[in-house]
Amino acid sequence: MCGIVGYAGARPALQIVVDGLRRLEYRGYDSAGVAVLTETELLIAKRAGKLANLDRALAEDADGRIAAGSVGIGHTRWATHGGPTDRNAHPHLSQDGRVAVIHNGIIENFASLRTQLEAEGIEFASDTDTECVAHLLAAELRTISNTSGPAALAEAMRRVCRRLEGAFTLLAIDKEAPGAVVGARRNSPLVVGVGDGESFLASDVSAFIAHTRDALELGQDQVVLITPEGVEITDFDGKPVEAKPYHVDWDARAAEKGGHDWFMQKEIEEQPQAVADTLRGRVGTTGNILLDEVRLTDQDLRDVDKIFVVACGTAYHAGLVAKYAIEHWTRIPCEVELASEFRYRDPVLDRSTLVIAISQSGETMDTLMALRHAKEQKARVLAICNTNGSTIPRESDAVLYTHGGPEIAVASTKAFLTQLAACYLVGLHLAQVRGIKYADEVASVVEQLRSMPDAIEKVLASMDGVRELARELSSQNTLLFIGRHVGYPVALEGALKLKELAYMHAEGFAAGELKHGPIALIDQGTPVVCVVPSPAGRGVLHDKIVSNIQEVRARGARTIVIAEEDDEAVVPYADHLIRVPRTPTLLAPFVTTVPLQVLACEMATARGHDVDQPRNLAKSVTVE
Ligand code: G6P
Repeated sequence: MCGIVGYAGARPALQIVVDGLRRLEYRGYDSAGVAVLTETELLIAKRAGKLANLDRALAEDADGRIAAGSVGIGHTRWATHGGPTDRNAHPHLSQDGRVAVIHNGIIENFASLRTQLEAEGIEFASDTDTECVAHLLAAELRTISNTSGPAALAEAMRRVCRRLEGAFTLLAIDKEAPGAVVGARRNSPLVVGVGDGESFLASDVSAFIAHTRDALELGQDQVVLITPEGVEITDFDGKPVEAKPYHVDWDARAAEKGGHDWFMQKEIEEQPQAVADTLRGRVGTTGNILLDEVRLTDQDLRDVDKIFVVACGTAYHAGLVAKYAIEHWTRIPCEVELASEFRYRDPVLDRSTLVIAISQSGETMDTLMALRHAKEQKARVLAICNTNGSTIPRESDAVLYTHGGPEIAVASTKAFLTQLAACYLVGLHLAQVRGIKYADEVASVVEQLRSMPDAIEKVLASMDGVRELARELSSQNTLLFIGRHVGYPVALEGALKLKELAYMHAEGFAAGELKHGPIALIDQGTPVVCVVPSPAGRGVLHDKIVSNIQEVRARGARTIVIAEEDDEAVVPYADHLIRVPRTPTLLAPFVTTVPLQVLACEMATARGHDVDQPRNLAKSVTVE
């Protein structure tokens, strides 16, 4: 949420910053802006709307002075304080024009800071919380006399940060500090890219991956100063800090569309590989499951008597699916909660509770706050995350990384399937440590999991009918989804995809619950997508949903049935049949989710929407 880029080096900064913003636009697209330091000037350009508007403004810049600077910062915004207008777009300038600031997060005490600043005679040029930081920095810089240039800017940033409450990543440049960008972070993401004679700051590595794959993790409450000579990091009190270096294991091509119209299409296609990568190297020499970072003992895991999964959006749906497998394999009660609700209802947590936090970005504020609440109550926390070095895994007791590569489309797809794979590995690990499953039983489930990439590939190869159906259905106002058992969260996920991308009314229901109310929604021709479990698994489940399909059809529904390739029992009741390969019951979501992703992507395209950047949404939501 809000994308941030900073560059200090010898090359022209503008192009590097704007290219970085292009890769971060998924984080917000209400406005975009840049500020650049040339030898003599601090220049800014900003526009409401998508980055394309800023591109146009820059192209029309007749004298091109802004292209000359070799230090720059850039911002792409998801509006919180102040509407998405030109004046509220970042960067924000101090009144004396000396300092430019960009920000991701919310400064919670901004109202009192603004009142103080206004009393001192400052006139605000925007409605944002961010602008007060620019004025505060300028004021601090005026009082610092013992240092100058970049060191003074870093000191001013530390002083200002000590006065701020809330969540923030801040970057600033100062006319009097040539060659330098200063950054700070508390509860919002910021990573450092280390190049040869140049340095980068960004919300995530995709912004600078074309230039360097060497990065540094920043901790909470740290200030970082980048110059062409290098990187200096301190805490908010000025104490030097040693940052943890890491190497990014994917390159710039992974963050490009690769011939697809949308990132979402590419990410759907990448799912077989992403699942295979997440499963790779997970079984140790004794048949034990390997997590990535474990700061818990086996005894800690044996002591677990309750599991909570906390997550948001699509990751929450992954948790809902995982519950079936985790309880089945471990016999530990497992609850799945929306992270945004978790801490407010005072859940019963203690040191024998395991909280599993699932997050693609590792930065979702609701999930982070749920995790912190759990830790305060002494619960153990295990993170399932796709982003190396992000806050959620850093603050967890154990981590399993999904190796999905960058997910750029706002609507999550490959993250969902890789999260399922990771959750299943965690379930198996727990079952094994607790002596409920032996290595050979675990190995046989891992084998089944390893066959999922091929099964997903098969589904992807048969999507022409779904694309045609999507075009046919694109003028509908409502679509309903029903499922049972693990098919129920798949129905929820199918409906979520359609809401976020096609902006239409879509709801997922437990098929058995229909008769208790939602069946009243069915009218002549209402499309109902039915996720059917394997007839070879629990027969009773299959029979029950076949009855549910008949019930909706008898009331006029147009049924779109997702069923296994040899399931003949559904044929008489399916107006449209989508076939998926045979899979064990618990693993079915790996294949049944895929047609729903394609359906939503195609329907949104047919309705003329921007699939990768749906209205009002953003990825990596760093506000509560
Ligand atoms: C946002 C995105 C969703 C995503 C959710 C959780 O709402 O639009 O696609 O599922 O955040 O994100 P996370 O990074 O925590 O998995």
